[in-house]
Amino acid sequence: MFPGLTLGYLIFEVSDLAAWRTFATEMLGLPAPLEHANGSMGFRLDDQLQRLIVKPGDADDLVGIGLECRDDETLDRLATALATAGYDAEACEVMGVERAVRSTDPSGLAVELVVGPARATTPFSSDAFPDGFVTGDHGLGHAVLAYRDLAAMRRYYVETLGFGVSDRLEQRIGPVEIRGLFLHCNPRHHSIAILDAPLPRRCHHFMLQAADLESVGRAYERAQKLGVPLSLTLGQHPDPDPTMSFYAATPSGFDFEIGAGGGIVHEAWDAGRVKASPWGHKPTFRLKWQTMRALVRHRFARRALPAATA
Ligand SMILES: [Fe+2]
Repeated sequence: MFPGLTLGYLIFEVSDLAAWRTFATEMLGLPAPLEHANGSMGFRLDDQLQRLIVKPGDADDLVGIGLECRDDETLDRLATALATAGYDAEACEVMGVERAVRSTDPSGLAVELVVGPARATTPFSSDAFPDGFVTGDHGLGHAVLAYRDLAAMRRYYVETLGFGVSDRLEQRIGPVEIRGLFLHCNPRHHSIAILDAPLPRRCHHFMLQAADLESVGRAYERAQKLGVPLSLTLGQHPDPDPTMSFYAATPSGFDFEIGAGGGIVHEAWDAGRVKASPWGHKPTFRLKWQTMRALVRHRFARRALPAATA
């Protein structure tokens, strides 16, 4: 059973708001944002008033997500499930939604369970994505988080909020074993994924799904024209999520992914194991360099541990 949730919005805290504004309007091709009195900006992807919320701060990371509940009963049920399992779950005011309950996942990410997000009064329009994005019952796309305690995240998202496991990742890169969980809460193959990997930020990447392939190709060309640093070249993930996409850097350093043709899961899904992309998705020099730095950091951290505890 799906838990009656969609990924409703993402909240980023960023040190360079002006760079994000340029990135979101020029690279992502989104309309000019809603500007709030507290300095934050809300960007649209569809008929909802805001899907990507960018606020000023030092984190340069994803600091919150909104999980839109199907109805009030779903919100009440999940808030009770969180409280029963020992997590915080407090009713709160959230701008632009009718009701909200805020919790915190084990990685420290604010998770807002909401109903009744505000709608825009004008139709969504983007020259870069003339057919828009795949959202609605599938939510806005996905977010991939890095956190070293996969079991704790599984307890929160799967055992408490009712996400299903779509795929598992088990991959060795040099001396590091990377494990991951790809989680669904509606037919979208994954709305959240969690990587147990030594990464510098909580957010590995977020993904927006274009309605058509041509818009992905145009975005790929745009990234290169604007000098946006690529991480993975255009490529295609394998079944059961054959998204054709590319990855590049946001102004905060973590990645974004733009793709089309994402996979669908059903309610009685048997989790598989993630395989390599059959073509493309080749790491750029920038990504190889970042990976090497992360591995070195990991190696020294591991060596330092016995000395520090001796
Ligand atoms: Fe992705």
